[in-house]
Amino acid sequence: MFDPNHVDLPVLRERAYNLRWATVPPEVIPLTAADPDFPCPHPITEAIRRFASARYFSYTPAEGWPEFRESMAAFFTNKRHWPASPGDILPVDSAAFGIYLTCKAFLSPGDEAIIFDPVDFLFRYSIESVGGRAVSFPIPADTGIVDFQLLETLITDRTKLICLCNPLNPTGKVFTAAELITLGELALKHNLLILSDEIWSDIVYAPHSFTSIASLDPAIRKSTITITGFSKSYGLAGLRIGAIGATHPPHWQRLFEASLHASTVHGVNILSQVAASAALRECGEWLKGFLGHLDAMRRLCVDSLNAIPGIRCTLPQGCYVAFADVRGTGLSSAEMRDMLFDRAKVAVVPGLPQWFGPGADGYIRLSFATSEKILQDALQRIQSTIHTL
Ligand SMILES: Cc1ncc(COP(=O)(O)O)c(C=O)c1O
Repeated sequence: MFDPNHVDLPVLRERAYNLRWATVPPEVIPLTAADPDFPCPHPITEAIRRFASARYFSYTPAEGWPEFRESMAAFFTNKRHWPASPGDILPVDSAAFGIYLTCKAFLSPGDEAIIFDPVDFLFRYSIESVGGRAVSFPIPADTGIVDFQLLETLITDRTKLICLCNPLNPTGKVFTAAELITLGELALKHNLLILSDEIWSDIVYAPHSFTSIASLDPAIRKSTITITGFSKSYGLAGLRIGAIGATHPPHWQRLFEASLHASTVHGVNILSQVAASAALRECGEWLKGFLGHLDAMRRLCVDSLNAIPGIRCTLPQGCYVAFADVRGTGLSSAEMRDMLFDRAKVAVVPGLPQWFGPGADGYIRLSFATSEKILQDALQRIQSTIHTL
């Protein structure tokens, strides 16, 4: 399922945008946006086909398609070990929108929200889009050590929200239960809401295991807004589908009102909800196979990068990106990105503040969610180009 024959480059070159195959010259391999090169599992396309064959695409309930809410609640209850009911679920048209919606619902202009550094740009972008102030909390990429004393010093009277990204894109850190309890207790002590982005929670490599912060304690759960999505685990980025879980009814209500779903000004496509329900209910085996392939690609990628003089890369605990420190080559993140693009014909994401925050300086990020053949080719090109430095 995950061999080179399953990567359909002609289709990807037509359809894969957001820094990927459709946006680069044909000779370039884009290890950029974290979006798999493999097609989604068959049960998803079958579910879309079955639904579409009746030829009705009527308005759906504003709160979400019942099957989707039930599937999502069962997922949180059985796989993430916190009791969710369908009424706690709100479908959103992507995890990105879930982050933005949470900021819109709970932040007023001038409010502060704490984000990790480095972390995906979506957190800062969403906070600033609603007039909030993003306050960076460094978690060093090389050690992953969480300094809770430092975290507490960043909390002020204006702080409303802590944004947890677990597993953490781009470093691949998976938070331990002990770290999450400390974080949750700190949030309770200062009366803060926790936004827990768990879109990467399926992509965790043994011996590490994922803990959902909402599973730890009823009081922490009540203060948590959990967000997840389907782009990473099932390759459904273009369907724009995600979910929010909020067990405290006033929180759910506030999110629902901010979503504008009741007015139909905004809403989630029915086919996306059908597809995501099928992913949750029928694609467990596929996901297991995908994770096994990713684990092998993770080792290949990190070993190859570490064999290059001047590059250091730790093995990510989760996510399918390698976050490599390139400072030893004497090049900056942007210079390395440009050189790899121009000479190796491999596109990577540079560790610039606009992508991941200041803590990414000196790093590049490479996605390894592709076939072994494509990854080998890209890594060999990177190796031989850097050897000529
Ligand atoms: C941590 C994190 N959250 C959210 C997203 C966006 O997911 P979606 O495609 O559902 O908007 C990404 C994608 O890179 C991500 O890494």
